[in-house]
Amino acid sequence: MYLTSLAIISATLIGSISAQTVFYGNFVHSVNVTSLEHATNGVIAVDRSGKIIQVETNASASQAQQIARKYGVSLFPLGNQKFLMPGLIDTHIHAPQYVFTGSGMDLQLLDWLNTFTFPRESRFNNTNYARSAYSKVIDRVIRSGTTAASYYATIHLEASKALADIVASRGQRAFVGKVNMDRNSPDYLIETTAQSLKDTEAFIQYVQGKKNSRVAPIVTPRFVPSCTSELMRGLSALATKYNVPIQSHLDENLDEIAWVKQLHPDQPDYTSVYDSHGLLTNRTIMAHVVYPSDAERQLLKQRGAGISHCPNSNLSLRSGIAKIRQMLSEGQKLGLGTDVSGGYSPSILNNIRNGYFSAIARSFEHPDDKYLKLAEMFYLATLGGADVLGMKSSIGNFVVGKQFDALIIDPLSHGSPIDLFDHDDIKTTFEKFINNGDDRNIIEVFVDGRSIHRI
Ligand code: GUN
Ligand code: FE
Repeated sequence: MYLTSLAIISATLIGSISAQTVFYGNFVHSVNVTSLEHATNGVIAVDRSGKIIQVETNASASQAQQIARKYGVSLFPLGNQKFLMPGLIDTHIHAPQYVFTGSGMDLQLLDWLNTFTFPRESRFNNTNYARSAYSKVIDRVIRSGTTAASYYATIHLEASKALADIVASRGQRAFVGKVNMDRNSPDYLIETTAQSLKDTEAFIQYVQGKKNSRVAPIVTPRFVPSCTSELMRGLSALATKYNVPIQSHLDENLDEIAWVKQLHPDQPDYTSVYDSHGLLTNRTIMAHVVYPSDAERQLLKQRGAGISHCPNSNLSLRSGIAKIRQMLSEGQKLGLGTDVSGGYSPSILNNIRNGYFSAIARSFEHPDDKYLKLAEMFYLATLGGADVLGMKSSIGNFVVGKQFDALIIDPLSHGSPIDLFDHDDIKTTFEKFINNGDDRNIIEVFVDGRSIHRI
């Protein structure tokens, strides 16, 4: 008797940790750069490790029941209005900068860094402050529907570890980087070259030692002006030694570009400075890339580096409008980044909208650069972002063999900013959510098939 009930309890526990689910209802995802698929009566079956094991785009209710029976679980019906979509991917976000989002946006990049950003980041030398701030930002980012992100922390080792711990405990998928700064930085936010390298190695070992399949370290030289050649070379060696990706900023602002030219007159351009220090690889993510020359775009493509397009930030800090139509047609790896808090919003939805309008604005002056369609913006927000993170084969859309990182959208949730009418179908409902929806509509967030947020 005792043994039997124990067996039942443990079976229930195992079941609740790694439940297999068969969703039935509407879903929308990208199939490639230009095409969305809208499925009504769709089925997505997810196994105990969060892997998608079956996808159907038009199944009757009895076929869906049959599939659920085959896997020995009950069906998860979404109903007529709700739909599933892949989780949003933020390829560039500064977690510590969340504490001042939306304020202090009247300056351009270099003055903004000195006036607002560096003083705020310096407070992360206090690990308790960091823990409290990082809990809030991770919570906000997950509520906004971001299932995978590439985070910058600050130069502080302990606070950076705390960020990795919080992301891991919340179940989000992420790269986390300890920032490096050993020149042209204020006294209160600078490291020696040796300390910067030592702490970076300790940070990489710490995060890799967590053996968390979702959270990994990323080498994070802030940008060329704040890193000496010796530091950049050392970071390249660490990235190789521990097989980790790299992230930084590139060609964001005209004064920044002029400064890099002054610091490295021997190099033809900004991209070549990274490349000549071994920092441009097929696992590098470069943020902004607003002003790349033809040669720089060619070099980025040749190296297979990814580009994080940060439209809110590029407008908020008046950096410029990136040539996204051109870079898409050249086949660059492209995704979206919030760049919190150069960008004032932690939401990738907001960046879909800002990216859309940026491309329209550019097309007025450059008629050959046609504006971007909704399908292309959604690609950048999901599958393109997965490509930039080097995860295109495992996340980004609903394909058998990929992990189930997904959102349930309820267009009629409590307090929803959207109204539906009898002419609305899955296509127009999806468009209404993308253009007018917000976190009130994101009623559940899944990473690796596990629910990490529900309202
Ligand atoms: N360049 C160097 N540091 C930063 C930063 O924190 N934000 C942005 N937008 N650009 C940078
Ligand atoms: Fe940034």
